[in-house]
Amino acid sequence: MASGFRVIAHRGASASAPENTLVAFETAQAMGATEIELDIRLSRDGELFVFHDESLDQKTNLAGPVRTHTAATLHRAEIGSWYDRRHPDQENRFAGTCLTDLDAVFALFEEAFHYHIEIKEIDDALPPSVLQKLVRFGLRDRVTVSSFALRPLEQLHSLAPDLVTCLLVHDRPPGAKPPPEQTPREASSSTSKTLRQRHWMERAAAAGCRQVGLRAGSLTEISVPIAEALGLEVRGWGIRTESDLLEMRTRGAIGATVDWPDRALKCMQEARAAPGRSRRQRQP
Ligand code: G3P
Ligand code: CA
Repeated sequence: MASGFRVIAHRGASASAPENTLVAFETAQAMGATEIELDIRLSRDGELFVFHDESLDQKTNLAGPVRTHTAATLHRAEIGSWYDRRHPDQENRFAGTCLTDLDAVFALFEEAFHYHIEIKEIDDALPPSVLQKLVRFGLRDRVTVSSFALRPLEQLHSLAPDLVTCLLVHDRPPGAKPPPEQTPREASSSTSKTLRQRHWMERAAAAGCRQVGLRAGSLTEISVPIAEALGLEVRGWGIRTESDLLEMRTRGAIGATVDWPDRALKCMQEARAAPGRSRRQRQP
């Protein structure tokens, strides 16, 4: 990896094209990105579709949850107009751009990318289906599978222990119980934040994960050392600014997802050229 910090185009180059579409991934590639992140969900007939939200209502011309539609219908779900409405000042127009399935992404880009595949729903049919695609396209060593939920990652690890998996950590994953050591009084303290991170890192390590994904702004000085002691790498998400990105790098994260890979790659290039803003040195 050229930069030493992995710039991962979040849902493709989603600041410049409709998220999670082939054109968003093509745009990321044209910007020089070598890694993309994408979200996957199951169609009613068991195909893997690339889409973030549970429901199609907000971003497409269809309605209801992704899983209530067949693949044939989802191929006609149009997302480009939603993007155009949100970006009236951008020159490129995307009306007519529809959702894609995972097969089409792999068929088009093959080994051009490292893929960060985020499993968006808990369904026991999904992890084996992902694995089957990776085997079919010969991409299992070019993928990191992530999720905010442990279950699909545990399932994948038992099916394919060689696969790199990443537990995404919110301050607390939705619906999850707080770690036992947390009391209500501790809830907003940085000690509590560290305890929560440690708890989820321990859970990730026990589930066979090799990475944890921490939100921008949630890393403390000891987040990465705790992760490394558990055999985990830290990669970031929720990056809003270049300064978030630089902080991630300084704190020792291995990379992060960003909506604007062009700016992020430039920012990393400049940071390398100005080593005065030095990052925390990691052990080889
Ligand atoms: O990199 C992880 C990030 O994609 C998680 O958040 O909501 O964009 O899927 P979200
Ligand atoms: Ca995602």
